[in-house]
Amino acid sequence: MTDDWAGSRDLHVEVAARGRRRAGLERALRDAIRAGRLHAGERLPSTRALSRDLGVARGTVADAYGQLAAEGYLTTSQGAPTRVASTPAARQGRLAPAARPNEPRFDLRPGLPDVSSFPRRAWLRALRSALATAPDSALGISDPRGRPELRQALATYLGRARGVLADPAAIVVCTGYIQALGLVARALKTTGRPVIAMEDPCLELHRNIVESAGIEVLPLPVDEGGARPEVPDGAGAVVLTPAHQYPLGGTLAPERRTALVRWARETGGVLVEDDYDGEFRYDRQPVGALQGLDPARVVYAGTASKALVPGLRLAWLVLPADLIEPVVDVKRLADYHSAVLDQLVLADLIGSGGFDRHVRRMRNRYRARRDRLLAMLADRAPYGRPLGVAAGLHLVLELPDGAPSEAELVERGARRSVALGSLAAHWHGSGPRREGLVIGYGRPPEHAFGASLAALSDVVAVAEDRQP
Ligand SMILES: Cc1ncc(COP(=O)(O)O)c(C=O)c1O
Repeated sequence: MTDDWAGSRDLHVEVAARGRRRAGLERALRDAIRAGRLHAGERLPSTRALSRDLGVARGTVADAYGQLAAEGYLTTSQGAPTRVASTPAARQGRLAPAARPNEPRFDLRPGLPDVSSFPRRAWLRALRSALATAPDSALGISDPRGRPELRQALATYLGRARGVLADPAAIVVCTGYIQALGLVARALKTTGRPVIAMEDPCLELHRNIVESAGIEVLPLPVDEGGARPEVPDGAGAVVLTPAHQYPLGGTLAPERRTALVRWARETGGVLVEDDYDGEFRYDRQPVGALQGLDPARVVYAGTASKALVPGLRLAWLVLPADLIEPVVDVKRLADYHSAVLDQLVLADLIGSGGFDRHVRRMRNRYRARRDRLLAMLADRAPYGRPLGVAAGLHLVLELPDGAPSEAELVERGARRSVALGSLAAHWHGSGPRREGLVIGYGRPPEHAFGASLAALSDVVAVAEDRQP
């Protein structure tokens, strides 16, 4: 007798060992379908496989399947596998499916790169090469800091492309900057720094992450020259976006970089540098990392979320020597280490030059998009003031007095299925709050950018008759 492996699959049903097995099996299957444990379309084991697993006669299983098919819970037909039906009987008692969020047609919110441009072929090549060469031991449990292959590749790349002084031993690979920031916050707390200054404005989520580590967050005002260097009393660390302030878009002025490093040296403070889009500077060479000025006082954080895609959840910290152990301790407790396969692939992609090629191609695309966006805004929204340097994947259109409010424009966008960000949620201090749209020009797929820009131009042109 041949074993039917095609029909073998695990199915958890509890059938009483005694009594009427067929009725028990029917009830167990019916309950599982009604409760939603077995989903519509799910394939059930063959009668032979299930009878063997449950230790009952094959005819008993066939009878139970037949009965449930008659009741509308299952679909059976000769030669085809038995499946859970998607009829009302099968859906009865199930939770209502989650409502699909209303996706905007034109999504110009900040936060995402053009994910449709992910270099799939290059990634696949790197995956094959990484799998072919990785030792078996790489698939076991690794160092909490991450795979040595990736830490070595990052150390070389960051030194060359971002001016970071990185020893592979000081690098910790994390599950996105989200995790990296949480780990650093916890490590700062355990090393006696329970108060941290964060740029005002900055991402609300990032403040929440730091606060959830039990840390008090103080606002550090920002202007066109980036964060102001007057660190509030009591703060033991400062979180910064020096290359391209998020969201306002300035670059930290050279004298402020020096002043902040001086503050850190004099007080034993720590600067946390979030270099989230440092690869994308369009008017000249990217500004080198702050970390290069004093690797003993600056925590450098980079991410694959903009240069590649955020779904990878890959980011990296380069740590001052005295923070390596505290961060590794919390990383070990969080998830021991980040998933290894993607680390090996990224290491291969960086080593082969594929990562640089992708970044350079995307830099050209994003630069062209930013130029088109600025030209459109000058024409259709002359009441607004674009802020920030030529960098990154987003731009703030400041709305001075007399211009339409950010709420008004966001609402008008929503009515036309154009999703936009605004500055509102980014403020956390008591200082003056500026109004502005945050436009993520990186997000649409390349082929849809023109249409997205045209839709945005209709939204912002609303105020032509209301120009100051
Ligand atoms: C200011 C800022 N920092 C960091 C990140 C990267 O976060 P993650 O690596 O968790 O995707 C982003 C992404 O949107 C960001 O906007």
